[in-house]
Amino acid sequence: MLRRWFCCFSGELEAKPRSNKGHDYPWEAYTLRELVHATNNFHEKNKLGEGGFGTVYFGQTSKGEEIAVKRLKAMTAKTEMEFAIEVEILGRVRHKNLLSLKGFYAGGDERLIVYDYMPNLSLISHLHGRRAADLLLDWPRRMKIAIGAAEGLVYLHHEASPHIIHRDIKASNVLLDADFNAKVADFGFAKLVPEGVSHLTTRVKGTLGYLAPEYAMWGKVSEACDVYSFGVLLLEIVSARKPIEKLPGGVKREIVNWVTPLVERGRWEHVADPRLGDKFDKAQLRNVVMVALRCTNGRPENRPPMLEVVELLKSGVREGRTKEVVVMKKEMREDDDDGWRD
Ligand SMILES: Nc1ncnc2c1ncn2[C@@H]1O[C@H](COP(=O)(O)OP(=O)(O)OP(=O)(O)O)[C@@H](O)[C@H]1O
Ligand SMILES: [Mg+2]
Repeated sequence: MLRRWFCCFSGELEAKPRSNKGHDYPWEAYTLRELVHATNNFHEKNKLGEGGFGTVYFGQTSKGEEIAVKRLKAMTAKTEMEFAIEVEILGRVRHKNLLSLKGFYAGGDERLIVYDYMPNLSLISHLHGRRAADLLLDWPRRMKIAIGAAEGLVYLHHEASPHIIHRDIKASNVLLDADFNAKVADFGFAKLVPEGVSHLTTRVKGTLGYLAPEYAMWGKVSEACDVYSFGVLLLEIVSARKPIEKLPGGVKREIVNWVTPLVERGRWEHVADPRLGDKFDKAQLRNVVMVALRCTNGRPENRPPMLEVVELLKSGVREGRTKEVVVMKKEMREDDDDGWRD
């Protein structure tokens, strides 16, 4: 399939956009002119963010569609490969919790990937970035995002064929649509897992703070590496702490090493993001933290598969709600009693 795409990369895409909608792949081959126009010539004001792979710009097509365009930094063999993998893998996946490919442009030295624009940007911008002060992530939203991202990973690990290991699960790669649904993005580092293979050995890619130890040390990659990164992400979602924090004196502390002693001493409420105040469900918080600690177990074989993680998260939310209803009913009864006494 890749070879077929690369045949298209010879520059002939300057012609009219060729749509694959309704055919094999639901993406479009955009013209450079259209994307230059949509992003106001990649104007600084349109910049949404910058990553290792390139810069992302907001754009609006002539049809009025809002798009995000990722522009590759410099053309090297490495970036060309990441572009090809991203396009190849995104062309295969369709799931409500994965950011799908809208189209791309490849010609000359330009490599551009087009996605749907996500109006609520990425999880990182709400936890630590420019949207953090808006306090838009209340507790139910955080749970919805955690479960959504987990469901995206279930699709990659258990439903896609061949299975896909993402290898770069982190807060900046979880984007949020207008209704705060999570969309897992960035497949430039992803690996396809051939049938019957339990793990692969590769060069280490990904982001410090999220890397499973067996992967960071020996390059041993399996679905359990994504589970580890997801565990770190869960802790980040509930606490709004960074995966690695620099302590005074320059010592670095990983989020798991911060949470573990708090849990051991039963000081759960200290794990929650202080900005939530007391507006979080304590039972749900405990459940999420316990799931996160299982996901970040040092031994990959002890980590739960993503299917189980989703079940654990969902049942925690259900139980939390049941408890809430019981408490509410109790409070209502007490109110009634008070009324009667008056
Ligand atoms: N479809 C999109 N809609 C809205 N904003 C987006 C979209 N895609 C990316 N962004 C924004 O652009 C930023 C940069 O994304 P990018 O994937 O290039 O880098 P990163 O995830 O921060 O780092 P890395 O290159 O290590 O993955 C994101 O944090 C996000 O805020
Ligand atoms: Mg990214």
